Amino acid sequence: MSGQFSRRVTVAITGASGVQYGLRLIQCLLQADTQVLLMVSRAAQVVVATETELKLPGQPEAQEEYLSKLFGAAPGQLKVFGREQWLAPVASGSGAPGSMVICPCSTGTLSAVACGASNNLIERAADVALKERRQLILVPREAPYSEIHLENMLKLTRMGAVIIPASPGFYQRPQRVEEMVDFIVARILSQLGVEQTLLPRWGDALL
Ligand SMILES: Cc1cc2nc3c(=O)[nH]c(=O)nc-3n(C[C@H](O)[C@H](O)[C@H](O)COP(=O)(O)O)c2cc1C
Repeated sequence: MSGQFSRRVTVAITGASGVQYGLRLIQCLLQADTQVLLMVSRAAQVVVATETELKLPGQPEAQEEYLSKLFGAAPGQLKVFGREQWLAPVASGSGAPGSMVICPCSTGTLSAVACGASNNLIERAADVALKERRQLILVPREAPYSEIHLENMLKLTRMGAVIIPASPGFYQRPQRVEEMVDFIVARILSQLGVEQTLLPRWGDALL
């Protein structure tokens, strides 16, 4: 238990295409009685405005209010932190949750995490997850990937991070974009150990 909620997870949304993955992940985690400690990069705010109809405010406090209302979060269930809020729990091993997801993960943030830059709270929180050997999941999206991107993913995988590329499968024959988003979110939830009903498990039909 994490306070009044079953678990606590750090989520960062960065400026890669596919903010829908991050938003849906937050919604599912909140529905699963998880407290979400959220950070939204500046570039991610541009992507939200480009890819969705949402009117996400710029300030963390206003983002917290807006997203809490949007997803029907319980009081205190969604906490949003700013890019230089160094006193946030995620900035230290003593306060950070056991799991962090960067979804979607821009190649810029991927690179910063791989080299330990820690120049903003998202990068610092990921650095804390790595140094403390906690769970770190990154959901990168780019096409094609350069050697730099691939090397950074390999480096992070070798450090124990999990890379879940934003590449939905088609064997469920998705009819709607939301189903493709859920394909990836289901993978993330499974990694986090959160029960999910978004996607049937492979082979379940044969059991
Ligand atoms: C609409 C839009 C889409 C973008 N798509 C991607 C993308 O798919 N992958 C990526 O790595 N960067 C993408 N970028 C570029 C990043 O946002 C940019 O490199 C930024 O510096 C990342 O900063 P952040 O990691 O702090 O969020 C996109 C930017 C915009 C505005």
